[in-house]
Amino acid sequence: MTTEENVTTDPETLRRRAVEALETARRRTTLLTSCVDEAELTAQHSPLMSPLVWDLAHIGNQEEQWLLRAVAGREAMRPEIDPLYDAFEHPRAERPRLPLLAPAEARGYAAEVRGRALDVLEKTPFEADGAALLTRSGFAFGMIAQHEQQHDETMLITHQLRKGAAALTAPDPEPLDEPFRGPADVLVPGGPFTMGTTAEPWALDNERPAHARLVPPFRIDTTPVTNAAYLEFIADGGYRQQRWWAPEGWAMVRDHDLAAPLFWRREAGQWLRRRFGVTEPVPPDEPVLHVSWYEADAYARWAGRRLPTEAEWEKAARFDPASGRTMRFPWGDADPTPSRANLGQRHLRPAPAGSYPMGESPLGVRQLIGDVWEWTASDFLPYPGFVAYPYREYSEVFFGSDHKVLRGGSFAVDEVACRGTFRNWDYPIRRQIFAGFRTACDAAPQEGS
Ligand code: AVJ
Ligand code: FE
Repeated sequence: MTTEENVTTDPETLRRRAVEALETARRRTTLLTSCVDEAELTAQHSPLMSPLVWDLAHIGNQEEQWLLRAVAGREAMRPEIDPLYDAFEHPRAERPRLPLLAPAEARGYAAEVRGRALDVLEKTPFEADGAALLTRSGFAFGMIAQHEQQHDETMLITHQLRKGAAALTAPDPEPLDEPFRGPADVLVPGGPFTMGTTAEPWALDNERPAHARLVPPFRIDTTPVTNAAYLEFIADGGYRQQRWWAPEGWAMVRDHDLAAPLFWRREAGQWLRRRFGVTEPVPPDEPVLHVSWYEADAYARWAGRRLPTEAEWEKAARFDPASGRTMRFPWGDADPTPSRANLGQRHLRPAPAGSYPMGESPLGVRQLIGDVWEWTASDFLPYPGFVAYPYREYSEVFFGSDHKVLRGGSFAVDEVACRGTFRNWDYPIRRQIFAGFRTACDAAPQEGS
């Protein structure tokens, strides 16, 4: 077992990447906040979400706090607005009633911060052994680009929840040339593998450190569960039979009369879904989307399987059985490309199950990266040796049994915020996020090692 990945630590490469990542994020933020009018920017489209204009100024405020104040030691530009954009001070439901910056002011503020941040970036050493921990290998700049991209995914969720005509469009992913003919699942051999990372320069605190994990042999689906497969669960009365459901999941089904994924409805014998303002038939071969952890868990039980643990998911995504090495991604150590994974809001939907043969793992598992976040069986917990950095409120305050881990990223997240080690988390009742799942099972005793 080898322990570390091939990562770039060349300071000038990382500096270029940081500038590109910040610019890519801002282009996306600009699109997401300029395709609707001012009234829609300040409206709350769902009590679960902030007004889009809050995300916009919060993005600027975080950038100011970390890149201008923490890195460069500058004075606060507008100290009075800090509390408004502190996610812990005001829950999302309260945010529309706060005296928020108006759209034009929020845009101006974020742009001004950005101008100064690029200036700081030019003057900051990006060396891996730099004196300041915060800027080693450009960490703070990578962290802030990731933060903006995370809010770009959050804003895309707000767009999906918003009623009314479509505001966003994007080309569809390529259809499959031929139906995916691979096996339904594969055996991942048992034994230790290296989970997490120490070397990846922009990995966030909860992905660290790299550590050995013993994972018994298991089987995992080669693709995410499709709408067609999920429809069989529905047609078999899955939402009406308590035996498939965890107790809290069953309570959720009964309290909210759940009968299908969020945004689905049945009309004249056909299942339709609403996607970014357009109603369309549910595409059978696409990974199922907008299911809670409880629905994923119930489906898996109905199918005679279970959700993979987080360690199983990462082993399937990173372990190369031929070399015994843990790689950065399923396909190796190279960064994602459009032919390997559906990321970055290039498309506003997942690609059909079985897409991206170039992105498959050595064992033939596809679409681990991109398309849909995948619910895992695991609670969000720290790795052995975890150290909160640079602030407790990024990860540490969320550790525990309230949140389940999601892995792999969705079509809505940019590659700067999507690694083989990247950990996302949410409440098991959440359905508006771009989440689906794949299933797993223990390997029979004679299988694996
Ligand atoms: C990692 C997606 C759960 O949106 O709550 C954004 C990311 N943290 N601003 C979230 C985050 C602070 C976080 N998730
Ligand atoms: Fe944030």
